[in-house]
Amino acid sequence: MSQSHVHTISRFLIDQERLNRESRGALTDILQEIALAAKVISREVNKAGLAEILGAAGDENVHGEEVQKLDVFADRVIYRALDHTGRLACMASEEHEGFIPIPDKFPTGDYVVLFDPLDGSSNIDVNVSIGTIFSIHRKISGGERGALEDCLQTGRRQVAAGYVLYGSSTMMVYTTGSGVHGFTLDPSLGEFILSHPDMRFPTPPMKVYSINEAYFSRWSEGQRRMVAYMKGEEGVGGGFSSRYIGSLVADFHRTLLRGGVFMYPRDTKSPEGKLRLLYEAAPLAFVAEQAGGRASDGRTDIMDVVPCDLHQRTPLYIGSREFVDMAEEYLREDPAP
Ligand code: AHG
Ligand code: MN
Ligand code: MN
Repeated sequence: MSQSHVHTISRFLIDQERLNRESRGALTDILQEIALAAKVISREVNKAGLAEILGAAGDENVHGEEVQKLDVFADRVIYRALDHTGRLACMASEEHEGFIPIPDKFPTGDYVVLFDPLDGSSNIDVNVSIGTIFSIHRKISGGERGALEDCLQTGRRQVAAGYVLYGSSTMMVYTTGSGVHGFTLDPSLGEFILSHPDMRFPTPPMKVYSINEAYFSRWSEGQRRMVAYMKGEEGVGGGFSSRYIGSLVADFHRTLLRGGVFMYPRDTKSPEGKLRLLYEAAPLAFVAEQAGGRASDGRTDIMDVVPCDLHQRTPLYIGSREFVDMAEEYLREDPAP
């Protein structure tokens, strides 16, 4: 009888660490703690429909958006999972104005974690998939306790990145630069089990585009022509279907599994786009590249965009390589932003 190899994320991380001679286990520790935080958040997400967690916390985050209680909860869980590890010099969260130093009572380390603790928060109250996104860099500043410059590195310098999807099942998907690996939480074991080794965008990709079409009137000419082509208007192109969940993690995960392209363009209302470079676009761009796809802001590879501000926003085109390339073609004629 074949011995089914239940590969937990802990086992997988230790095996991967052995392959990487210079690794001293710091990354393994950080990813293990993120997995633990994911289990805690998953438990609350699955209760959110019942508990007092539902509904807005009332206050607003740095972007002037209403903060849902689950955002605050997830932010605190991730912070507390990582603050005492001795592996981080500092952190940064979508929910905090500035970078987050490690408390003096704890030792510091050589890494920095940036995270979107709860992505898709507008979907919390309607029981639609939401997520967490994380990005890990090596510290570059000289000091012990980290600095803003450690957080403002290009996506190309990430050492690891990934996301957690709280959907019909809870999945953790990450890369450390050696492919993309997906783990599904088995609630009966309380363990993330390797379910999607070596994830790659499918070839040929399914022709699926993902965009909020309600903003059509605010798009550039190039953006409008691209979607018109995908819809087969004027009898040219067509053959695409459209899917839009409104949670970036869920839309990206579907795109990774099926192929296609997710687009959140700049528009007349959001001239820099809505999504955040450091907490959303760059980590998913690393995953996309490691899975054979790519991500662009419409002109420049997301991984090469130099961050100037912690909460910098960016347009995002991410998914199967051929469709991201197509987007850049259509946008080339648009006036430079
Ligand atoms: P967050 O909840 O972290 O603010 O992210 C929400 C983002 C992203 O998840 C999603 O793709 C996008 O907002 C949806 O925006 P629209 O509602 O404008 O389509
Ligand atoms: Mn988000
Ligand atoms: Mn968020």
